[in-house]
Amino acid sequence: MKIAMVGSGYVGLVSGACFADFGHDVVCIDKDQSKIDRLHEGVMPIYEPGLDKLVESNVAAGRLSFTTDLAEGIKDASAIFIAVGTPSRRGDGHADLTFVYQVAKEVGESLSNDAVVVTKSTVPVGTGDEVERILADSGTSHKVSVVSNPEFLREGAAIGDFKRPDRIVIGAEDDFGRDVMREVYRPLFLNESPILFVNRRTSELIKYAANAFLATKITFINEMADLCERVGANVQDVSRGIGMDNRIGSKFLHAGPGYGGSCFPKDTLALLKTSEDYDSPTRIVEAVVKVNDTRKRAMGRKVLDALGGADNARGKKAALLGLTFKPNTDDMRDSPAIAIAQTLTDAGVEVAAYDPEGMEIAAPLMPEVKMCSDPYEAINDADAVAIVTEWDAFRALDLNRVKEIAKGHIMVDLRNIYNPDDMRDAGFEYSSIGRV
Ligand code: UGA
Repeated sequence: MKIAMVGSGYVGLVSGACFADFGHDVVCIDKDQSKIDRLHEGVMPIYEPGLDKLVESNVAAGRLSFTTDLAEGIKDASAIFIAVGTPSRRGDGHADLTFVYQVAKEVGESLSNDAVVVTKSTVPVGTGDEVERILADSGTSHKVSVVSNPEFLREGAAIGDFKRPDRIVIGAEDDFGRDVMREVYRPLFLNESPILFVNRRTSELIKYAANAFLATKITFINEMADLCERVGANVQDVSRGIGMDNRIGSKFLHAGPGYGGSCFPKDTLALLKTSEDYDSPTRIVEAVVKVNDTRKRAMGRKVLDALGGADNARGKKAALLGLTFKPNTDDMRDSPAIAIAQTLTDAGVEVAAYDPEGMEIAAPLMPEVKMCSDPYEAINDADAVAIVTEWDAFRALDLNRVKEIAKGHIMVDLRNIYNPDDMRDAGFEYSSIGRV
């Protein structure tokens, strides 16, 4: 089966490469010429473990190709995926659908065979209806069905998530759409991955409901962590204690500095806008967004407290280990590190940082922070060390060396990767999240 993937960003490229690996003939389309040129040279536009190898082997096998020419790319494709960005619209937080609608229009004008048009981009409820209208208005004489098929890929684990999904959600309104999608996902069907067929609006909402629920789970445990600190309890044990209840589940109960990334912040906001538009408040999600926003700066204040309070911190030095919103990505979008660095520099603290992948993107976002070439350069002479992102590289720091080169022995572990007793025995003034 031929599949066209319009948009060769994170979602489009991972999905395209994985579909090709299943044996489909995939063309990835993007109007950014330099991105396509680089892909032809084997250079990935994003950092995602395993993606370069997957692309290389499927290009070599002749199943994966790249083009800027949409009309040529979608020719003979049975399924045309729209996987372009839907950023938060400046000013009001609605998902910006300009790119999705532009692609729909171009697809309608260029279509040369019957096809299913699939929205993979995260789009608000009702977007599929509008895509259908745009395609109808384009005057195409070919049979078209518009389907919603949201993605549930985590950055850093996207290929595994695509190939071994918990479930595949397909929102279709007719048999043509359902039959083509069954064929697209046949390799996973045979693996017994559950495929959920629902109507299109339900599918669109499932995506937002899933991300909002996960964001809620994280925010809930973060607030429990704050309470643990006050009452002398241990949040990791609380997570274990509640997570063993199958109705709650153990995942996404790691307390930390607040969620970031390209999905949860944007999607929770967009869900609030949909709720407003339909006059159906989602107050829990409203609270989650507010609590998470204030948490990021509060984490900066936690580091300031460890330095003796905002009044005593001026002129002191802090080392930030990790800047990206989570490990195994170079993504800095809405990363707590941005607010933490800002809170520290606002208080006159000198900040040095190290991140294995994120520094190039982070540097312009935090111009006052000195970027270092390894963790120890950042730690050198620091009064306090803060672990902001749980990269594996920080899990086994040479603690003797840290004590030798740092000025103070303060460590603020915002990801709970060290054991409090071990750290105190090792001579650190150690604080973490939700543990005393
Ligand atoms: C998220 C979802 O997990 C995916 O299922 C979804 O497809 C994706 O958004 C999307 O909509 O495209 P992602 O943003 O890559 O994936 O990252 P997550 O692994 O979900 O982490 C998000 C944030 O939550 C990170 O800042 C992470 O540090 C934080 N987090 C996660 C916690 O603080 N605690 C946890 O227990 C889990």
